[in-house]
Amino acid sequence: MTVSKQTIRDEIDALRQRIEHHIHRYHVLDDPEIADSEYDRLFKRLVELEEAHPEFASPSSPTQRVGAPAADKFETVPHTVPMLSLGNAMSEDEFREFDERIHRSLRSTEPIEYVAEPKLDGLGVELIYEDGALVVASTRGDGVNGENITANVKTIRAVPLRLHKGAAAPPARLEVRGEVIFPKQAFASLNQERANRGEPVFANPRNAAAGSLRQLDSRITATRALDMFCYAPGGPTGITAATHWEFLATLRRWGLKINPENRICHGPDEVIEYHRSMGARRAGLGYDVDGVVCKVNRLDLQQQLGMVARSPRWAVAFKFKAQQAQTRVNNIIPSVGRTGAITPVAELEPVALAGVTVSNASLHNMDEVVRKDVRIGDTVVIERAGDVIPYVVGVVLEQRTGNERKFHMPKACPVCGSPIVREEGEAAFRCIGMSCPAKLRESIRHYASKHALNIDGLGDKLVAQLIDKGLVRNIADLYTLTTQTLADLDRMGKKSAQNIIDAIEATKQTTLPRFVLGLGIPQVGEHMADVLAERFGTIEPLQQASEEQLLAVRDVGPETAREIRAFFEAPQNQQAIKAVLDAGVHPKAEQRVAGGELEGKTFVLTGTLSRPRDQVARAISAQGGRITSSVSKTTDYVVAGDDPGSKLEKAQKFGITVLSESDLRVLLGE
Ligand code: IVH
Repeated sequence: MTVSKQTIRDEIDALRQRIEHHIHRYHVLDDPEIADSEYDRLFKRLVELEEAHPEFASPSSPTQRVGAPAADKFETVPHTVPMLSLGNAMSEDEFREFDERIHRSLRSTEPIEYVAEPKLDGLGVELIYEDGALVVASTRGDGVNGENITANVKTIRAVPLRLHKGAAAPPARLEVRGEVIFPKQAFASLNQERANRGEPVFANPRNAAAGSLRQLDSRITATRALDMFCYAPGGPTGITAATHWEFLATLRRWGLKINPENRICHGPDEVIEYHRSMGARRAGLGYDVDGVVCKVNRLDLQQQLGMVARSPRWAVAFKFKAQQAQTRVNNIIPSVGRTGAITPVAELEPVALAGVTVSNASLHNMDEVVRKDVRIGDTVVIERAGDVIPYVVGVVLEQRTGNERKFHMPKACPVCGSPIVREEGEAAFRCIGMSCPAKLRESIRHYASKHALNIDGLGDKLVAQLIDKGLVRNIADLYTLTTQTLADLDRMGKKSAQNIIDAIEATKQTTLPRFVLGLGIPQVGEHMADVLAERFGTIEPLQQASEEQLLAVRDVGPETAREIRAFFEAPQNQQAIKAVLDAGVHPKAEQRVAGGELEGKTFVLTGTLSRPRDQVARAISAQGGRITSSVSKTTDYVVAGDDPGSKLEKAQKFGITVLSESDLRVLLGE
């Protein structure tokens, strides 16, 4: 190797280490040290060097985290030690029985030391490291054989591609297990985006995690904010620990993510106390938890206790009571969405569940209705998992009388009568009617929604009335409304009519990303609207863009390009857009001011602000500032609203300038 080659190799190695270090600070420790822009710079430099010197490629390079082209199928991988399940304890009494069983088996009356951990509601995954490098990641599968999902797991930033050289050097081989989860917030935005694109939403974070891990195209997995906590050995670990607690500490030193909520508990009372407090804090955790896993801490005692049937005798899943209720399905109705996708919705006999009255539940799609065999008239169990929309768990078959009726997807749209079709390979049935009022209602609602044109006051009922009365036939008709027309409608005062007209008027000064989002182009959610707006600058070139030009835009895939093209080619869409623009709507590109006052400055927002966050963020970025989500030493300003959280404390710790909202206004020159 020539000297210069060696120098390049050294720079590549150093960059890889630095980048992985910062990924660990951010995704495992939740304590970043550098700004996103600095991270991006390091990453870009590494990509350049690797492209110029393919001979130094490595499967453990952080550049491998962006995903690889689609595979045809997942290979099977056998587990060295089968991945088993845990016995359950469904109540405090059952948990005490578990503790008593342990005492009996060990013939001991001494209190047992346990480790109590949140029972994460995700997917069990096994990681295998050889000489410190992640070589295989697999699903549980049938417990004996799993599927090789290495390419997908490598995209999870909380999973180190190389183990750190902690106190003890990593062993020649480490097999470790943990749970891959979909954080609640990321889940909500993913579903929002999917709904905006007219795609079926995931029923809960667990399904979203499963769907993301089972992607044959890991580039899609890379766009999903998955996380992973490790909690158990999977076979040989090379760790000589006396307790489970020490075992976890060793994993943590090697860079694996261990749940900071784990606790040592002395005896059953402390475990029950932990279970109660976890149950109370459950809704506030960033991920779904369905109970507590309680494990005997001493590994020699675990050995002694051994297995019973297919579960270890030394651990138990101490479940939370599911927030469930039973009620009757009064009807199942097909509901038509903006893109024409039809969702079967169960209309329920209203029932109280976890503090709210539930009167309908989504059945997601026809496959679900068939799989669960839900019929009109059935008594069903419904459940609310965390904050998510209630869903039908299953039918109480004992309550069937024989008078129940099966739901059939209608052949014609219940709203406009156009044919309903199911495209090959799609879960959704769709109405193909071009001017279906249900689609129109959804598209107006979407146009007026908060992240699009934000027309406050234009709610569901009003939109329905405007359509029924023939006052609105497309988005452009909104601009023909007058205070008088609105005031003549049911339950509408002059004042509220005026407010709505003002809100519609205000949309004339909107931004391009909002406008593009508001059009409701299939596949185009918030992120895509931002990308398109940035690339095209104004609406006209976007309307004209060929499929080929669209494909050249970052993040635009073939399906999206096709949908965008088809949308702008449809004559009724062209007419509506022209009419909206003629009405005086001038979507402005959000130009970042080069050399603006705030160029290069990073901001973190915390607490409740008096204006919507995205509005504040846009004002900052319009002047060249950048918003980041967490406070680090390189953050320039923290803007604190009411009830600021730990970010404020951190800012004070680092001596970062804290701005009130009025300070910020001064800074922005407002
Ligand atoms: S320990 C021998 N710890 O729950 C089993 N499992 O039914 C060792 N799970 O398949 C598993 N959180 O996917 C363990 N803190 C935790 C867990 C956990 C969730 C899952 C895991 C397992 C299932 C047990």
